[in-house]
Amino acid sequence: MITRTDSRSTALRADFPALAQEVNGHPLAYLDSGATAQRPQAVLDLERAFLETTNAAVHRGAHTLAAMATEAYEDARERVARFIGAATPDEVVWTSNATDALNLVAYGIGNATLGRGGHEAKRLALEPGDEILVTEAEHHANLVPWQELAARTGATFRYIPVGDDGTWSLDEARTLITPKTRVVAFAHVSNVTGFVAPVAEVVELAHAVGALVVLDACQSAPHRPLDVQALGVDFAAFSGHKMLGPTGIGVLWGREELLNALPPFRTGGSMISVVTMETTTFLPAPQRFEAGTQPVSQIVGLAEAVRYLETAGMPWVQDHEEKLAQRLLAGLVEIPGIRVVGPPLGMPRSGLVSFDVQGVHAHDVGQYLDAQGIAVRVGHHCAMPLHKRLGLTATTRASTYLYTTDDEVDRFLEATAQVRGYFGVEGSADPATSGGGR
Ligand SMILES: Cc1ncc(COP(=O)(O)O)c(C=O)c1O
Repeated sequence: MITRTDSRSTALRADFPALAQEVNGHPLAYLDSGATAQRPQAVLDLERAFLETTNAAVHRGAHTLAAMATEAYEDARERVARFIGAATPDEVVWTSNATDALNLVAYGIGNATLGRGGHEAKRLALEPGDEILVTEAEHHANLVPWQELAARTGATFRYIPVGDDGTWSLDEARTLITPKTRVVAFAHVSNVTGFVAPVAEVVELAHAVGALVVLDACQSAPHRPLDVQALGVDFAAFSGHKMLGPTGIGVLWGREELLNALPPFRTGGSMISVVTMETTTFLPAPQRFEAGTQPVSQIVGLAEAVRYLETAGMPWVQDHEEKLAQRLLAGLVEIPGIRVVGPPLGMPRSGLVSFDVQGVHAHDVGQYLDAQGIAVRVGHHCAMPLHKRLGLTATTRASTYLYTTDDEVDRFLEATAQVRGYFGVEGSADPATSGGGR
């Protein structure tokens, strides 16, 4: 039995009203934070207070509320910039989520390829024969926009293949990053396998051939210290709702000179410098990417979520979740008929574990657990190519956060151990696939 590590998380739980409820007659065990995290009372309160006292459109009004809202909006940008180690707050662009942020980069490069953005944008333009490289493990949000960009520009879409456990190696990256590579886009942490990418090494390979590195930080920014400058990437994207913040708000970070070279994706109000009936000039970053009225209450909510995470301490968050992941893994590999995907026991992985229960569809596993108050995610987790490569159509994923306790993990393991018996498939486990992930 792995020793308990969770006294702090037990104390923090009092801050999260959603965790105090019962679901289907059982205390809720929320193991789906990889999809959307719960929000602490401080975030809920701050959003409400903002709406009650400060609600106004930013950067436009001459009145007091507009000035207060603008200040809160820009303070939030500063806080998020500090949290991720940005060189300046101007490197932080508000988007509606990570998907939106990744599309912003892909469509910006597409617009540069169409000749938009003037001289500075030329360095970002693609040509037929240029290569865009992703991995086979990507979430669709960091795959489809690049596939589409390749289709629109004539560039070639390539990918780093994964091995039988769903992880990929630096050796493969080394072979596939060539002088033709212009963009390398990959997840810092996989939302399916928990694999942590060798970011610095890939950055070195990519920059040696002049390629841009786009990091999907959706599963890292909420769960481990993130320093975009130390990592050396060019762009990074993440979502507020996965890091104790509101839905409807995401972040694109980009190096300042790149953001200012990138033509805008969405155009309209608030992002222009001068508009005539003939032509339009755009504001510098970040405003050039923030067309239209912004989700200000979500943005201040996100800044409060960041404050909460800073107080908890990101090194502790990472350590706590990694221990929970090993506890999850150690329990799952003991259950007959379960195949865990991702790094084996004892190897680094973030705080989530996906698995297949032989003979039982993931949706049935999810329903069985839900009946006991245990919330997990089931399906292909927006990573269909990865699941296809693993020979699976769906998996069940348990994902943790700073408020997850050992007891919740143990309840989940006990319930999961009953699944095959409940569905009448016990005893028919294929020994070749049982206990994968060891
Ligand atoms: C690795 C990864 N990338 C991208 C996304 C997309 O995030 P969003 O739906 O918030 O845009 C997710 C969300 O599940 C994710 O886990």
